[in-house]
Amino acid sequence: MADSDRDLLLSRIRDVPDWPEPGVVFKDITPLLRDPAAFDTLVELLSGVGGDGVDVVVGIEARGFILGAPVAHRLGAGFVPVRKQGKLPWTTTAASYALEYGEATIEVHTDAFKPGERVLVVDDVLATGGTVRATVDLVRGAGADVVGVGILMELGFLNGRDKLADVNVRSLLVI
Ligand code: PRP
Repeated sequence: MADSDRDLLLSRIRDVPDWPEPGVVFKDITPLLRDPAAFDTLVELLSGVGGDGVDVVVGIEARGFILGAPVAHRLGAGFVPVRKQGKLPWTTTAASYALEYGEATIEVHTDAFKPGERVLVVDDVLATGGTVRATVDLVRGAGADVVGVGILMELGFLNGRDKLADVNVRSLLVI
């Protein structure tokens, strides 16, 4: 990745201190989405993560939808939303993962993947890695192959990669 691309993406991510709670610095990507050149660069870079022949792009709710859909369109692939529990209308498969306090569950439609399909997973942030781990398990559980995980920002100090040693994860920015 060119330094100029990294600088462009970094320059369009806004730090918001004490949001959503005191002590947290939120990484706001709305300036990046608002800038056509930066958004195009981001979509192009994420589109390269899975190599050739991606059949399906998965976007993880909610910001993963914004990034994953244009990636799918650029690749000529289908798009599949992975959503928080209770949001999808049809038959679903679920996967749960641990949070600091409690548990979260994500779901996908049972007909989202065909066995052997090549799947690229896209999201904005890799933090503890629980969300991506559960997503990868849902895709593999359906018999499809995860050919890559494309992430805009990895919070390296949270060591999310430790949960993803068996997955091709590419983070454009490690913070
Ligand atoms: C954020 C982010 C990732 C996830 C990463 O989503 O967009 O999906 O957390 O965290 P993890 O690596 O610790 O699992 P969030 O749950 O805030 O949902 P939202 O995008 O709907 O706000």
